[in-house]
Amino acid sequence: MENRKRCSKRPWIGLVTGLTFIFLSSAAAQQIEPEVPFVPTPEKVVAEMLKMAQVGKDDVLYDLGCGDGRIVITAAKEFGCRGVGIDIDPQRIRESRKNAIKAGVADKVQFIQMDLFEAEISEATVVTLYLLSEVNLRLRPKLLRELNPGTRVVSHEFSMGEWEPDASSSVKTGDAKDPQVLDYWDPNIADYWDLHNVYFWIIPGNVMGTWKLEIPDVSGKKEYTLKFEQVFQQVRGEAFEGSSSIPVFIMDDKIKGNTLQFILERKLKGRTERLHFEGSMQGNTMQGTMKIEGSPGTNKIQWTARRVLSTLRSIIASRNWGLFTLN
Ligand SMILES: C[S@@+](CC[C@H](N)C(=O)[O-])C[C@H]1O[C@@H](n2cnc3c(N)ncnc32)[C@H](O)[C@@H]1O
Repeated sequence: MENRKRCSKRPWIGLVTGLTFIFLSSAAAQQIEPEVPFVPTPEKVVAEMLKMAQVGKDDVLYDLGCGDGRIVITAAKEFGCRGVGIDIDPQRIRESRKNAIKAGVADKVQFIQMDLFEAEISEATVVTLYLLSEVNLRLRPKLLRELNPGTRVVSHEFSMGEWEPDASSSVKTGDAKDPQVLDYWDPNIADYWDLHNVYFWIIPGNVMGTWKLEIPDVSGKKEYTLKFEQVFQQVRGEAFEGSSSIPVFIMDDKIKGNTLQFILERKLKGRTERLHFEGSMQGNTMQGTMKIEGSPGTNKIQWTARRVLSTLRSIIASRNWGLFTLN
């Protein structure tokens, strides 16, 4: 009886052991191969990245592929913000945790061993990257989809394809003279190794589509139709008063997070009047203030616009102008 029991269990044990082996070896294979090797960002470049992102104490900074944790740790130490580092390599996570304790910021930071593509990142207000162009491109849809408009993204060295940066800079570190960086000294390529590019983006809100704009005027309220096209943060617009088209100029041609500034040029009694709008978007409603150019005083008029829901489009899908037709 005892023997039969044992025997009848054996096929299960074998199956479970086999499945566990397959699962562990495939998990290990996934974990062991980082898509980018560990190369730490020089401290000078870390400082520039944090400066560009204007990191402050209320920020939550995520470093995707955090290496030894230096960006997260420096941000917590210098600015008092909270930070999360994600790395697929368990050795890097162990180093990061040790470094955080050494720096006295272990209570402010957290290091998680996982694939950055699987990470839940929506609470981040700043995201830092030192990956590769190809990895950045694969990551781009996740950043645009999951991060809140206004979140700042900074990348050391690698850009984001046709998603142009909102700002960029470069830092000379002098590292090329360090034998750990270059094992030989060649003045012709030293400059190349010394120069580190830093790129900065603000996650844009989605203003795509047709909006009904209302502003109060002497006769009660005036209604305009606004149509916006958007490619990443770049925005173009057109406005209609009834069926007549009137020009719209978007400030810097960009939406900044959820805030948009634009000028609407209307004809009034034979002369041109320029209306300066600034507002912020919350889902399908935009609200803000408007001022008539040249009008005396600082009186600002409140305005509201609502999106026609059927005209909402994804800004990720629109890599080129004209996919959204203005009609
Ligand atoms: C170039 S290092 C950058 C380290 C750190 N962010 C810095 O700037 O000093 C890239 C890091 O990304 C990690 N990495 C590569 N692929 C990853 C993935 N799919 N998920 C999480 N981490 C990854 C590597 O283990 C490595 O530590």
